[in-house]
Amino acid sequence: MAKTGHPLGIDIGGSGIKGAPVDLDAGEFADERLRIPTPDESTPDAVADVVAEIAEHFAKETGDASIGVTVPAVVSRGIVRTAANIDKSWVGTDAVALLEQRLGRSVVVLNDADAAGVGELHYGAGRNVDGLVLVATLGTGIGSALLSSGALIPNSELGHLELDGVDAETRASSNARDTEDLSWEDWAERLQRYFAHVEDLLWPDLIVIGGGVSKKSDRYLPLLHLRAPVVPAQLGNAAGIIGAAWMASNQ
Ligand code: BGC
Repeated sequence: MAKTGHPLGIDIGGSGIKGAPVDLDAGEFADERLRIPTPDESTPDAVADVVAEIAEHFAKETGDASIGVTVPAVVSRGIVRTAANIDKSWVGTDAVALLEQRLGRSVVVLNDADAAGVGELHYGAGRNVDGLVLVATLGTGIGSALLSSGALIPNSELGHLELDGVDAETRASSNARDTEDLSWEDWAERLQRYFAHVEDLLWPDLIVIGGGVSKKSDRYLPLLHLRAPVVPAQLGNAAGIIGAAWMASNQ
């Protein structure tokens, strides 16, 4: 039977779990986004409860349409493989099985940055771009999505490349800028070295900077000198939800 309603996108983050039904013709939310704080103990069961609450809230608009869910982790064939910024008990969890059982609907689970990349590819800065596009989300960690001629290469995890002898995300994420109280210039210097390294490995044709800090791109983008053009994301923090919903209806 054909599925009815808008697909729902849900973005599981370290501090909030956010969801909205998505109008895929327009590439925008079909209703106001709902945000519920992430439970202190963000175990799979506790998070599944919140996901179920969000699905219930939008039940009228979404009908039995599929749900796309993002997690800040490597996901291969529905199984969560890492947990850099969420409860360690996610590692090894079959997130698709858990959520499908809980929600009684078909569910797609993917990495949060990959979802943002898919959103930008179809509705934002990556539209009509040939070649290799890197979408980097600079937030609590650094997420990355690689899109090659429109196809997602999942789980690229470039935030864990080495910078200054440690995980790059601990030096160059937006969180690092906040906690170390770095000036835009000092932070941009780290970003420059980080992206120069990424460029030497992958030679992207376009770099898109996502995450909340993409709104302030005028403060640091002019300080970056890379081979590829660097542009801010166009969908901002909506990209993950929109990309997840797109994946849910194009699986
Ligand atoms: C995780 C990635 C995630 C990124 C952004 C990193 O620490 O390893 O899977 O995409 O944070 O949330």
